[in-house]
Amino acid sequence: MAKTQAQFVCQSCGAVYSKWAGKCDSCNEWNTLAEEAGSGALPKGVSGGKGGKAISFVGLKGKTAAPPRLKTGIAELDRVCGGGLVAGSAILVGGDPGIGKSTLLLQATGAVAAGAKCLYITGEEAVDQVRLRAARLGLENAPVELAAATNVRDIAASLDVNDGADLVVIDSIQTMYTDAIDSAPGTVTQVRTCSHELIRIAKKRGFTLFLVGHVTKEGTLAGPRVLEHMVDTVLYFEGERGHHFRILRAVKNRFGATDEIGVFEMADAGLAEVPNPSALFLAERRGNVSGSCVFAGLEGTRPMLVEIQALVAPSSLGTARRTVVGWDSGRLAMIAAVLESRCGLALGGHDIYLNVAGGLRVSEPAADAAVAAALVSSFRDSPVSSGAVVFGEIGLSGEIRAVTQMDQRLREAAKLGFTEAWMPKNSGRRKQPMDSKSVSIESLGHVQALVDKFS
Ligand code: TYD
Ligand code: MG
Repeated sequence: MAKTQAQFVCQSCGAVYSKWAGKCDSCNEWNTLAEEAGSGALPKGVSGGKGGKAISFVGLKGKTAAPPRLKTGIAELDRVCGGGLVAGSAILVGGDPGIGKSTLLLQATGAVAAGAKCLYITGEEAVDQVRLRAARLGLENAPVELAAATNVRDIAASLDVNDGADLVVIDSIQTMYTDAIDSAPGTVTQVRTCSHELIRIAKKRGFTLFLVGHVTKEGTLAGPRVLEHMVDTVLYFEGERGHHFRILRAVKNRFGATDEIGVFEMADAGLAEVPNPSALFLAERRGNVSGSCVFAGLEGTRPMLVEIQALVAPSSLGTARRTVVGWDSGRLAMIAAVLESRCGLALGGHDIYLNVAGGLRVSEPAADAAVAAALVSSFRDSPVSSGAVVFGEIGLSGEIRAVTQMDQRLREAAKLGFTEAWMPKNSGRRKQPMDSKSVSIESLGHVQALVDKFS
C-alpha cells in the first residue's frame, strides 16, 4: 500500500488542508484542525480520463413504486419518519446526552422485533447495561439481537450477508472506528468513513439503518456536516432538562415532510407517546392570571396550543432586563419596540421576562401576537380572557399579518374547548371551517386593537 500523507481536517466543517493552521479558512473556527491520516483522496485523472462508459438518461415519467415502509407501531416515530421506516434508508438521530436516544431506539427495535429481524449494536454501553434498560422498558423478551462492538470491519462483515437484518441500530457513530484509518474514533475522517461503509451496506442489503449521533455544546450534530448530507433522514431529539417531555423533530427527510414532530413523555417505563400535546402543555395553566396567553401554534403539520407567560415589572436597574425562555430574544425586543413606538406603551423602564410554559421552544413568527398579548396583559395587570387563543405575525409598523394554516389552528382551539380566537384579518377569502364554529373569531388588523382589549 502506498504511504498515505498526513492531512489536517477541520473537525467542525470537514475542510481538508495539507498544512496545519490555527484557523479554518472555510468555517472561520479556531483550533479545529486536527491531523488525520490521508485517505479517500481521489486518484489523479478521475475526471476527463478515458475509459468511462456513457450513462443513459430517462424521462421523469415512469413506473415507480412507493418505497416499502416498516411501521414501528410507535405512531409518533412513524409520523416523523414520513409514515414508517423506509427500507434501505439511513436515519441519523441526534440529541444531547441523556435525552433518551438509546431508549427511543431500543423501544423502536423492541416494537418491531416480533415481525422483523432487528440488530442493536452499541459502542457506548456494555451488553448488561442495555439489558437492564430493556428490563426496565419491559422488553426483555423481545427478540432483538444485541451486540457490543465498535470495529466497523467486523460490523460490516456481520451485516453484509444474505438474509440479513431488517433494522439495524448503531449507538453511536462517534464510537465506531475502522482500522483502515489511523485517526481516533469520533474524528471527522473516522465518522465519515464508518458512516459511508454502513450506509453503503444498508442500501445494498435493504435494511433501515439508525445512526445515533452526538451533538456539540452548540447544539449541532458533532463532527462533520457531511454526515447530514450522507443520510436520508436527520432527526433531532430535544427537550429541556427538568421537563419530562421530549420532541423528535425531522430536520431533513428524503422520504417525507421536514419540520414534522413527535412528542413523547419520559416516564419510569420509558418513552410514552403523547397523542394530544396541547392538553399536556396546557395542563398546569391557571386561568385569570395577567400575563398568560394561549398561543395556537403549529409544529410541522401539527397544531399545538401552548401557554406564553410574560412578566413586566418596573426595573430597579439602569438597563432594563429582557429574559426569554423558549423564544427568540431578538424577536421579543422587536415586539416590545413595536408596542412602545406604535402604541405608546412605556415598556422602556420595565424588566421583561418571557417564558413558553412546559419547556417547549417556539420558533414561529405567528407567536408574535400571543407574545404581545401576554406583555400587554401583564403590563396593564389585566388577564387575557381564559377562553381565548391568539396568533398572528406582527410587522414593524404594527400591522398583524396573516399566518399559514389558520383553519388548523382554529380546529385545535375548538377541540380543546376554547371559545375565542384573536387572529389576523382573514382577508375574506375563506370561510371558517365547520368543525370550529364554537370558536368566535375576532379579527385584529393592528396591535393597537390588541392593546385596546386590555384598557
Ligand atoms: P438514554 O436513552 O440513555 O439517553 P441517550 O442515549 O440520549 O444518552 O436516556 C437516559 C435517561 O433517560 C436517563 O437520564 C434516565 C432516563 N430514563 C427514564 O427516565 N426512564 C426510563 O425508562 C429509561 C430507560 C430512562
Ligand atoms: Mg445512549
